[in-house]
Amino acid sequence: MAVALVTGVAGFIGSHLAARLLAEGIGVRGIDDFDPYYDRSLKQRNLAPLRAEPGFQWQEGDLGSVPLAPLLAGVDVVYHLAARPGVRHSWGAPFADYVRINITATQRLLEALRETPVARLVFASSSSVYGEQVGGETPESATCLPISPYGVSKLAAEALVRAYHASYGLPGIALRYFTVYGPRQRPDMALHRFVRALLEDRELVLFGDGTQTRDFTYVDDVVAATLAAARVGRPGMVYNIGGGSPASLNDLLAILERVTGRPPRVRREARPAGDPQATRADTRRAREELAFQPTVSLEEGLRRMTGWMTELLAGAAPELARPSGPTGVDHRPSGPTGADHESD
Ligand SMILES: NC(=O)c1ccc[n+]([C@@H]2O[C@H](COP(=O)([O-])OP(=O)(O)OC[C@H]3O[C@@H](n4cnc5c(N)ncnc54)[C@H](O)[C@@H]3O)[C@@H](O)[C@H]2O)c1
Repeated sequence: MAVALVTGVAGFIGSHLAARLLAEGIGVRGIDDFDPYYDRSLKQRNLAPLRAEPGFQWQEGDLGSVPLAPLLAGVDVVYHLAARPGVRHSWGAPFADYVRINITATQRLLEALRETPVARLVFASSSSVYGEQVGGETPESATCLPISPYGVSKLAAEALVRAYHASYGLPGIALRYFTVYGPRQRPDMALHRFVRALLEDRELVLFGDGTQTRDFTYVDDVVAATLAAARVGRPGMVYNIGGGSPASLNDLLAILERVTGRPPRVRREARPAGDPQATRADTRRAREELAFQPTVSLEEGLRRMTGWMTELLAGAAPELARPSGPTGVDHRPSGPTGADHESD
């Protein structure tokens, strides 16, 4: 049986990816250290169905310190999703964590892959590497000038993947995901907070005037692209993965009002540093080389996400009692006013 390693398997995208691999008959070895950026119990909830699957091997551990040779033994493909996400929170002292997790742990993994080669490494990069995007759709050839420390850390990791490909032939591919959403979306992301506030009939905070646009990408489409990259992607390449449903935050709220039947009560605050005005992917390369074709419209995706959130709240999930998110290292604004419009 083919075996894939998924790093960050208890996270939002990693848990969906692992489920899809298992459904396709591929064994999954998953590692996660329950990074305290957001609540551990949400990650345990993501992990629970995976752990019930016979093809799933679970390891709790930090990629920055666990022995990597046994983790990589017998693995065909590595999907490297483990990271410290979050644009707004990457300023100031916490940047040290972004360096440790996003850059140093990635380099450690790349060194280990020199010793234990695999057929493909797929790295989860981000649209945040581009920074402020102007002039419509952004192709992969656009100059990368990130405007947040998070974007800098993802660009550095992506550059490492390419350097190990150029110098050692390591078959790494980077995918620049654009604003991923759907069930299990991270609690710090704007959409998660918007949907939750609407369902709980609370005021929500919108940073800026709401004209910022994002290229929203449904998680199942991201997973399909990630699997395709491992199968047919070209080593050393980078691919934009965007859902083709660019919408402003004001548009988003209008759709959410239709989906939930509740008018949002919006409080506006100043736009935070690091938050670009617009993101929009040129996905020609992914469409041509990976046969990437987003299948879930924004309205349908928001319906699915609202259904998931309704269930989560109905179950009175204890993890949702603390909307502020991260535990232990809470350096972030807390409470329902902390809505984040980050591009990642
Ligand atoms: N969600 C988005 O919109 C988006 C957009 C662009 C890129 N990305 C990238 O996709 C990947 C997944 O993002 P997500 O939204 O699912 O985030 P997530 O935080 O839900 O998942 C990341 C997981 O990695 C784990 N992790 C962190 N440090 C680790 C370490 N040292 N060792 C082992 N595990 C560790 C965390 O505990 C977490 O479960 C990340 O690399 C992120 O940068 C996400």
